[in-house]
Amino acid sequence: MDKILVHGGHPLNGTVRVSGSKNSALPILAAALLTRQPCVISNVPDLSDINYMLQILSHLGAHVERASGVVRIEAEKIKTEAPYDIVRKMRASVCVLGPLLGREREATVSLPGGCVIGDRPIDLHLKGFEALGAVSRIEHGNVKLFAKELRGATVNLRGKQGPTVLGTDNVMMAAVLAEGTTVIESAAAEPEVVDLANFLNKMGAKIEGAGTRRIVIEGVPELHGAEHEVIPDRIEAGTYLVAGAIMGGDVMLRRVDPTHLGALIDALRQSGYEIEIGKGTLRIKGHPSPTPVQLTTEPYPGFPTDMQAQMCALLSQTSGISVISETIFPQRFMHVSELKRMGADISLDGHTAIIKGVEKMSGAPVMASDLRASAALVLAGLRADGVTEVNRVYHIDRGYESIDEKLNQLGARIERMKA
Ligand code: EPU
Repeated sequence: MDKILVHGGHPLNGTVRVSGSKNSALPILAAALLTRQPCVISNVPDLSDINYMLQILSHLGAHVERASGVVRIEAEKIKTEAPYDIVRKMRASVCVLGPLLGREREATVSLPGGCVIGDRPIDLHLKGFEALGAVSRIEHGNVKLFAKELRGATVNLRGKQGPTVLGTDNVMMAAVLAEGTTVIESAAAEPEVVDLANFLNKMGAKIEGAGTRRIVIEGVPELHGAEHEVIPDRIEAGTYLVAGAIMGGDVMLRRVDPTHLGALIDALRQSGYEIEIGKGTLRIKGHPSPTPVQLTTEPYPGFPTDMQAQMCALLSQTSGISVISETIFPQRFMHVSELKRMGADISLDGHTAIIKGVEKMSGAPVMASDLRASAALVLAGLRADGVTEVNRVYHIDRGYESIDEKLNQLGARIERMKA
């Protein structure tokens, strides 16, 4: 398994280009199953999670071609079964359920298990499919969906922790080919949901309200092929903003949508960092004495759970006491014990991390447990004394395109050791 060595203490300066959004691209690629005609998706990042999704689509019978960020998918004839060995590598494989049910009125997809960031149920996805008239069964580890017909309905997708992103995507993708009107109440309003809705509308769907808590979908008999460019990855962008904050210097992000990063920009400014917002650009300058902050993760437009670990890394080296409460995935704190091995002073009280900033952390061998936790360890290592050895780097390759190269371009010293 590859590992990354981060040599701490090198200031970051310069420009970094933000890649296309992983969490937008995954459901958008799955949505191409909704039509027999070709779809062309651009700004698709080169990530292992994207590779898994393309393998699933190929397994389902789609013809997939890929060249430098552009993916062409033609799903003329499709199968409706995605077995365990092909979907187990990635939880987001559940987002083929909606398109398969919508187009073929049936789907069998291996049920995703939990993962290190916590229990990841799909009860809300099933609630939505059932509201449209599908019957669902869990059999031999698979979710089986079947519908004689799909009829529009009103469904509330609010769960204990708020709305569900992929659940909203899934129900939207099934409902576009249902008869009549579907209303999703308590829908997720993340920019990735809006991006998917825009793509579906280009394919001939009739969706209104994406980006609000109420999405209205007028079913149509069929969809056609379309072209679409995936939005920039707000979490990748946020991670580089935090890198700029943690290491001082002057870092400019290109091809970013600053409107998607409001909560993070507010938090960093509150801590004292200067952030300039341009047209498709963001620039952060270091601050000699940033102040601690209090954060709570929330559904969009609140502070994103996918930036919580990276902020833990930053605040661990910000003098004073910061507090972060995690309300979306209350157990998503695997990075804390690894940051503590590097000298961070963090105590956990239920779903809240109390972070006492230390002057300096020190490099250590650490274990990446999930995607954002591994990014946090790399960020902490940028400033720590000595060398941080991040193991199980495959987690980071799931969601960050060439993170070592991009940070090195900014002046970091990161080496990737091939296994
Ligand atoms: N939930 C339920 N029932 C469901 C679905 C979700 O109770 O049927 C709960 C979850 O357990 C969680 C909350 O609802 O407590 C929100 O989960 P959500 O369904 O919104 O998560 P997701 O759609 O599975 C996406 C992203 C995650 C991101 C979350 C929250 C993709 C591929 N994944 O997951 O991204 O953390 O939304 O914003 O879009 C990442 O990129 O590192 C990542 C984990």
